[in-house]
Amino acid sequence: MVDPYSYKKIYIESLQELQRQFDELQRDLSDFEERVRRAQLLPDENCQVDNNNSDGSVIKKRYIHLTEEILKENPNICEHNAPSFNARQDIVVVEVPKLGKEAAQKAINEWGQPKSKITHLVFCTTSGVDMPGADYQLTKLLGLSPSVKRFMMYQQGCSGGGAVLRLAKDLAENNKGARVLVVCSEILAITFHGPSDTEVDVLIGQVLFGDGAAAVIIGSDPNLEVERPLFELVFATQTLLPDTGYAVYGKTSEAELKFHLHKNVPRLISNDIEKSLVEIFEPLGISYWNSIFWVVHAGGRAIMDKVESKLGLKPEKLRATRHVLSEYGNVASACVLFVLDEIRKNSIKEGLDTTGEGLEWGVLFGFGPGLTIETLVLRSVSNIHK
Ligand SMILES: CC(C)(COP(=O)(O)OP(=O)(O)OC[C@H]1O[C@@H](n2cnc3c(N)ncnc32)[C@H](O)[C@@H]1OP(=O)(O)O)[C@@H](O)C(=O)NCCC(=O)NCCS
Repeated sequence: MVDPYSYKKIYIESLQELQRQFDELQRDLSDFEERVRRAQLLPDENCQVDNNNSDGSVIKKRYIHLTEEILKENPNICEHNAPSFNARQDIVVVEVPKLGKEAAQKAINEWGQPKSKITHLVFCTTSGVDMPGADYQLTKLLGLSPSVKRFMMYQQGCSGGGAVLRLAKDLAENNKGARVLVVCSEILAITFHGPSDTEVDVLIGQVLFGDGAAAVIIGSDPNLEVERPLFELVFATQTLLPDTGYAVYGKTSEAELKFHLHKNVPRLISNDIEKSLVEIFEPLGISYWNSIFWVVHAGGRAIMDKVESKLGLKPEKLRATRHVLSEYGNVASACVLFVLDEIRKNSIKEGLDTTGEGLEWGVLFGFGPGLTIETLVLRSVSNIHK
């Protein structure tokens, strides 16, 4: 497995030192690129990349749609800043709805109700744009009613998972009988590229991101004879951290959508987190953060470490989040839904009383470009009879 960090760490030294080390690196560079190609660009036949945990990201596996064949057909995707946006678009506008369909079908099967009961669709992706969009494609792929009310949320980045839940909650609460299908689907073909000599902040995303899709169905007033709620969405809010627009952003060019992640991101997020928690949990009389369950966007190991130490969280609090990061990488908007799924499944497996690790209250944090913070207060439901 390539260790992109050894390269990156060298690169970010002072300029003088950089030059010296960079000269040294030159002789290894072709080998480095070859290793990157092998480890990151060329997945095995199951489209699964094993990272073997040899870097600080603690990501063991990621899944990517790109195959050796696709890359051979589109060599510009492997370069840095080479025109390849059209090729990427051609892939993602077809594949993102298809991947979303897989997740949606599983959610509908588990829900057990006819598709005709779905009244709204919220689709979220940062992987490509089209008109009509991925929401329209999914409606056709799933055979949903033409009168389903669709909402397409493009370019939300990693905070998208929180944003879709917030929107779906509003829709469900304000439209009697609504059943909102929420789908997050991400394919990093839109952003994947070969290593750059100059943009370390861009390299970080290459190490973290993976493909993934998740879906849930959200509604008010469940019919308990045929529906089994998993979590209650009690409160949802969005906020911007002041003066942090530089920290996470994406730029679309003829080459790709390029993500920039500043090294301050873990610090910026963890600095503000307690204030948000106090604001939303004070009315519930909760101030001990280990007494709730935690669903955090699996953005990167350093974010989890900082949040954990800042709040004095016990290691088990972020266990589900770390597991998702380790097994799938950062799957952007789909991350928090992966973590929710992990938590409720573990809770049942371990015979705990509630879907929220045996606890009543929980918090969900999504963060992304802006820096935008999405926060939801969750309430678990009883696992008894499940
Ligand atoms: C990427 C990550 C897993 C690497 O972890 P790590 O291997 O333990 O490495 P560190 O965090 O110690 O960073 C190693 C070096 O890279 C630098 N670095 C880290 N992130 C960087 C960035 N985004 N841009 C430039 N340099 C960066 C650090 O300053 C450090 O430099 P130093 O060796 O001179 O001190 C970790 O930094 C992380 O989780 N970052 C957050 C990623 C993020 O922003 N995700 C949000 C997506 S929504």
